[in-house]
Amino acid sequence: QPITLSVIKADVGGYVGHSAMHPALLEEARRLMEEAKHKNQIVDYHVTSCGDDLQLIMTHRHGVDHTDIHHMAWDVFTACTQVARKLKLYGAGQDLLADAFSGNVRGMGPGVAEMEINERQSEPILIFMADKTSAGAWNLPLFKMFADPFNTAGLIISPTMHAGFQFEVHDVKGHKRIFFRTPEEMYDLLVFIGATGRYIIKAVFTHDGEIGAVSSTQRLALIAGKYVGKDDPVCVVRTQGAFPAVGEVLEPFTMPHIVEGWMRGSHYGPLMPTSVQQATPSRFDGPPRVIGLGFQLADGQLIGPRDMFDDPCYDEVRRQVNILADQLRRHGPFEPHRLPMDEMEYTTLPQVMEKLRDRWSELP
Ligand code: 13P
Ligand code: 13P
Ligand code: MG
Ligand code: MG
Ligand code: MG
Repeated sequence: QPITLSVIKADVGGYVGHSAMHPALLEEARRLMEEAKHKNQIVDYHVTSCGDDLQLIMTHRHGVDHTDIHHMAWDVFTACTQVARKLKLYGAGQDLLADAFSGNVRGMGPGVAEMEINERQSEPILIFMADKTSAGAWNLPLFKMFADPFNTAGLIISPTMHAGFQFEVHDVKGHKRIFFRTPEEMYDLLVFIGATGRYIIKAVFTHDGEIGAVSSTQRLALIAGKYVGKDDPVCVVRTQGAFPAVGEVLEPFTMPHIVEGWMRGSHYGPLMPTSVQQATPSRFDGPPRVIGLGFQLADGQLIGPRDMFDDPCYDEVRRQVNILADQLRRHGPFEPHRLPMDEMEYTTLPQVMEKLRDRWSELP
């Protein structure tokens, strides 16, 4: 009997500002998830936070995109929003962009990554969650995990991985999708996924169609038509066997790669891998963070988590992130620290520009 792993997340109020989550919200979410487990709506769950984003990790037997599961997640977010309002936390209900639930949380603000799988003899899974960045932030690490032999030794060494993988890429502005096979079409894939604001890796499969990774591709600015906070995406990756080893999946995060997000969602900054405890972006509301939780699935039970970046081997990338953060911060309001104008369209900057419109005159 297949099992579905669903990660559904939303920012329903920050403590303090956008830096972290108040324990009362986690407590309320856990209470409701425990209730759902009791009623056998879900098999198991783990509730955590990354920065100011509430993360609901669930296993169940209903398949992906199931109304009951999405509705339950929506209800947890609205209940936690009530708690946030009482404490006057910052941006209570920030990511709930619809007034009422209808059918599916997709397009309503929360981020979703789900996969339905037949649990293997052993099923090690890594769940990545980021704060202060946008949905395209997984493109580079997913490419490295599943297509770069300098990252993933298994692509060369392992007979189960040597054939490569298939990438499902979404054009989030054109509402289209395309599949690429690697290694054959690696260069074609990179034509698109290098543009992280528009082309986003939704999922990765083996050539037999077995799912290896899935990410949340929701872009809040495109849903709301204006800036309402960053997407703060999540990503689920299966490891070992036909998929990259745990260490190959974690390795891309040792490179302090630069993503969009950070202060007011309007800047480029390096992505810092940290423990859950240290995922509290405060310097210039950042730098952007990523956490990684490891689980072994056992008949749908989430055995874990292990806090994968809570390890001294990531000290060096954290140090490099701080050096890059200093260097980028010194640019202040200048590009390439600040996002280019077409991305700034989704911020409050156009309102400021509008006020100055009449002051412009023709060149003499
Ligand atoms: P162990 O001998 O510790 O199980 O390691 C096996 C391995 O292949 C690690 O990549
Ligand atoms: P969040 O999306 O994490 O709420 O960040 C919003 C922001 O503007 C931080 O400066
Ligand atoms: Mg927030
Ligand atoms: Mg956030
Ligand atoms: Mg956000």
